[in-house]
Amino acid sequence: MISLNNKKKRSSSSRNWLVRQLKDKYVARSRDLGYRSRSAFKLLEIDKKYRIFANNQVVVDLGCAPGGWLQVATKRSTNGIIIGVDLNDITPLQGVTFIKGDFLEPNTTTQILQHLNDKQIDIVLSDMTAPACGINQIDVLRNTMLVNSVINFCDKVNAKSMIAKVLRGGTEKEIFAACETQYQNVLYFKPHSSRQDSSEIYIVATRRTLHAC
Ligand SMILES: C[S@@+](CC[C@H](N)C(=O)[O-])C[C@H]1O[C@@H](n2cnc3c(N)ncnc32)[C@H](O)[C@@H]1O
Repeated sequence: MISLNNKKKRSSSSRNWLVRQLKDKYVARSRDLGYRSRSAFKLLEIDKKYRIFANNQVVVDLGCAPGGWLQVATKRSTNGIIIGVDLNDITPLQGVTFIKGDFLEPNTTTQILQHLNDKQIDIVLSDMTAPACGINQIDVLRNTMLVNSVINFCDKVNAKSMIAKVLRGGTEKEIFAACETQYQNVLYFKPHSSRQDSSEIYIVATRRTLHAC
């Protein structure tokens, strides 16, 4: 349970973070509904709007820890194959194969492909954020590099759809254009559950026509 009344001295930024967490309705809702992260609501919103999940899909979730998106994927795509990848460990989740590793390392991609054994990937999800150094331009560039690696991976495996987090800050048009070379339908979406003061937006790219519901 998080509380402001803890005797431990906190820096003002950690206090501000705590106040925000305590006031945040999505944090409370994720606790009530048993989701491992408030991020789960972003994917739920994306799916509600664009109906990306179906049963029996092969889903690869890059940067999956602690596992909120994996929980959504296992619920929305039953009988599918769900693979999660992260630098950090996760508490095991039924129906999920977890690969611990750096997605930027070729060995991690090899492990994903070995596990799939030539099965076609339906959806690549990426909520990855590179560790922030606090200098906006550097943070945006590091995240652009991550998103570009995701796009290259989708190209290599011919993934049918891709949903990836992008940080606004100057490179989002190039990222959009790179997706358009592979996917017929590409759009940006900012879920309500994504904090309005956050620069994150989500790129949704598919081969099929996207109907907003
Ligand atoms: C915002 S969290 C993801 C939250 C997740 N979608 C959920 O719902 O629980 C971003 C994750 O990306 C992971 N990450 C960042 N860079 C990575 C990389 N190069 N390879 C693998 N994971 C990475 C981080 O370790 C972190 O756990």
